[in-house]
Amino acid sequence: MNPPPIDLKQYIREIPDFPKPGILFYDISSLLKHPDGWQLATARMTSVVCQWNPTLIAGIESRGFLTAAPLATRLGCGMLMLRKPGKLPGKTISHSYNLEYGSDSLHIQHDAITPNQRIVVVDDLLATGGTLQAAVTLLKKAGADVVGCAVMVELMALNGRKALETEVVSLLQYDD
Ligand code: PRP
Ligand code: MG
Repeated sequence: MNPPPIDLKQYIREIPDFPKPGILFYDISSLLKHPDGWQLATARMTSVVCQWNPTLIAGIESRGFLTAAPLATRLGCGMLMLRKPGKLPGKTISHSYNLEYGSDSLHIQHDAITPNQRIVVVDDLLATGGTLQAAVTLLKKAGADVVGCAVMVELMALNGRKALETEVVSLLQYDD
């Protein structure tokens, strides 16, 4: 008989009241530092993302870089960095978006997108969906073909996928 599948949630720490009171923080640090857990997480993400046959994986600064890079390597894709302001040299294309408190923006280099790329946007976590949708909007503004989005953790109660105009898959879902 096969052993039961490993539940990756055991590697993700849940930290109450961070970054502010009342927020339960899902900490992937503990997953990242577990060799078997991280291998398994990236392998499972790869098997989900490969359905879209991507040629480029776009990671959102900063925790999205950690999630996106191993997928790009495993899938034999290039990787694109969606960066916070002031980080990229040369001309950039940007998109501003609202957060729960304040606003932020994402940037790519003006020549980051080339024709016929199939782009999957990857982040660690989907909460309200504001960050992921900003990434999709920016890439489309630059003429990209975004074929899907993928996250490791989805906070179901916030219904962030409703804000997204692109299909999204998540590895682990949390109801609270
Ligand atoms: C966190 C997380 C996602 C985003 C999700 O990033 O890594 O990118 O928030 O929230 P949303 O769905 O409500 O937009 P954060 O901006 O805290 O920065 P970091 O990745 O640099 O830690
Ligand atoms: Mg982030």
